[in-house]
Amino acid sequence: MEPIVQMKDITKRFPGVVALNKINFDVCPGEVHVLLGENGAGKSTLMKVLSGAYKPDEGSIVLNGKEYDKLTPHLSSEGGISIIYQELSVVNWLDIRENLFMGRLPMKKVGPASVVDYATMNAKTKELLKKVNLSHCTPTTNVGDLSISEKQMVEIAKSIAFNARVIVMDEPTSSLTEDEVQKLFTIIRQLKAEGRGVVFISHKLSEISEIGDRITILKDGGYVGTYNVSDLTTDDMIRKMVGREIKGTYQHLPEEHYQFGDVMFSCKNLTRKDHLVENISFDLRKGEILGFSGLVGAGRSETMCAVYGAAPKISGDIFLNGKKLKIKNPYDALRNGIGMVTENRRETGFFQNFSNQRNIAIARQLKESKLDGLIGLTNESEEKKMADEEHEAIRIKWTSREQLTSQLSGGNQQKVILGKWMAANVKVLIFDEPTKGIDVGTKSEIYKLMRKLADNGIGVIVVSSEMPELLGLCDRIIIMANGRITGSYDIAEATEEKLAKAATSEMA
Ligand SMILES: Nc1ncnc2c1ncn2[C@@H]1O[C@H](COP(=O)(O)OP(=O)(O)OP(=O)(O)O)[C@@H](O)[C@H]1O
Ligand SMILES: [Mg+2]
Repeated sequence: MEPIVQMKDITKRFPGVVALNKINFDVCPGEVHVLLGENGAGKSTLMKVLSGAYKPDEGSIVLNGKEYDKLTPHLSSEGGISIIYQELSVVNWLDIRENLFMGRLPMKKVGPASVVDYATMNAKTKELLKKVNLSHCTPTTNVGDLSISEKQMVEIAKSIAFNARVIVMDEPTSSLTEDEVQKLFTIIRQLKAEGRGVVFISHKLSEISEIGDRITILKDGGYVGTYNVSDLTTDDMIRKMVGREIKGTYQHLPEEHYQFGDVMFSCKNLTRKDHLVENISFDLRKGEILGFSGLVGAGRSETMCAVYGAAPKISGDIFLNGKKLKIKNPYDALRNGIGMVTENRRETGFFQNFSNQRNIAIARQLKESKLDGLIGLTNESEEKKMADEEHEAIRIKWTSREQLTSQLSGGNQQKVILGKWMAANVKVLIFDEPTKGIDVGTKSEIYKLMRKLADNGIGVIVVSSEMPELLGLCDRIIIMANGRITGSYDIAEATEEKLAKAATSEMA
C-alpha cells in the first residue's frame, strides 16, 4: 500500500549529539505504526521533524506523493499530519468547541458583517464528541474541568476536525488508567477503520503488542529496523531496543523473610483542609519499601502532597525517628530530610532554565543553606561532583552538565529529578509514579536504586498505578479509595485481586 508519508534517511544533529542518524519511517493508511526506543533514542525528535518543528540536517520526506527536504508546521498540517505531544496542548481556560476550532472559527454573514457561526460550531462539536465517546460533555464544557484522558480525546477530536490522515500520539497512555487505555484503543481502532494512519509511542510493551501493526525500533538515534508487531515477542523488542537481555526487572525480596527495623517514619490521622483525604495513618519501618495502591483519584498523591507540606492540612502529625516534625511547606520537608519525586515532572520537578548540574545540586544546597532558603555563593566544584556522581549512578543521557534539563528527553528529565534527591541525602523519599515514561531497561535500574536506598536505611514510599510494579517492588502495600485507607497487605499475602478489591471498596 502507498504510504501517506515516508521519511527517508533522516539525520538531525543538536550541539554535541546526533539525535537521529539516517532514520527511515513511513505510515500507511489504516495502520498503527509503533515507534519504540529507550529514553533519548530519538522518538520525539523524529516526530518533531515530521511536524515541521525541526528541520532535518539530511534526508527527505515524501508527503502525499511530493518530496520535501524539510516540512514546515503549515505544510505538515495541510498535508494531514497531526501530533498529540507528551505534554498535551489543549487550552484549559477555553471550552471544548473553542479548543476544536481555535484559529479556524466558522463564520457567517449577517448583513455586511461577518460573525462567528456558533450554531455550526456547536453542531460540529457535538458530532465530534460523539465520535470520541465524550457524549457526556457539551460543546461549552470547560476543558480545564476534564480529566487527562478526556483532554486527550479532545485532542483526537481536534485531529479529526482538521481531517488528519496521520495522527501521532507521543506516550498517550503514560497517565491513563487501564480502563482509559482501553477506551483510547477503541478510538484508535476506529481511526484505523476510517483509513487514517496512527503513530503510537509507548514504553509499555504489552500495549504495543495489543494495538500495533508495524513497529520501528530506534537505538541511540540509529535505525534498528521495521517489523510486523506479530513477528516479535516482547523479549525480542527489548533485545532490539536495548541491545542486551534484561533480567529481573523487579527487586523481589530474598526468599528468607526480610527483617525490618523499627518504625522510622509515620503519619498519624492526617486530614487535609480540603478533605480530599481524611484520617490517614501509616508507619514505615526501616529497610522496607512501602507502596500505595488505588485508582486514580483515590487520594494517594493528595496524601503525599500533604505529608510533604505542599497542601494544607487540618490535622496530622508526621514523625521521623520518633521526633515530631513541623512541616508547613516543601522547604520544611526538605530541611527535615524528606524529598518527593512528583508525578508531574514538567511542572514541579525541575527548573526549566537551569542546567542539569544546577537542577541536581539545588536541593542539597537549599537543605544545607544557612540563609533560610537563600543560596549564597555556590561551590562550583562541589556542584560538578554531585552532577557527575548522579550522571554515573543512574546513567542520565545528556551532552553535558551545563545543558539545560528542559532539552533532555522525557525519561532523562525524570532521572535528573531522581539525581537531585539522591544528591540531597534525604532520609525519606516519596516517589509518585516513578517510572512514568521510563524505558524498560532504566526501570529495572530505578527499582534497584530504590532497593539500595531502603537497604541503606532510607525510607522509601512509592505511589504507583501499575500493580505489577508495586507487587514486584514493595514489602507492604496500602490501598486507598475515596480519600481513605481501605486495606494494607504484607507482600507475602498481597495479590492483584485483593488490591483491586480494596481499591473499589467503600469501607474504611
Ligand atoms: N532541543 C534540543 N536541543 C538539544 N538536544 C535535544 C533537543 N531535543 C532533543 N535533544 C536530544 O536528542 C536526543 C533524543 O531525544 P528525544 O526527546 O527524541 O528522545 P525520546 O526517544 O523521545 O526519549 P523519551 O522516551 O525519554 O521521551 C536526546 O539525547 C535529547 O537530549
Ligand atoms: Mg519522547
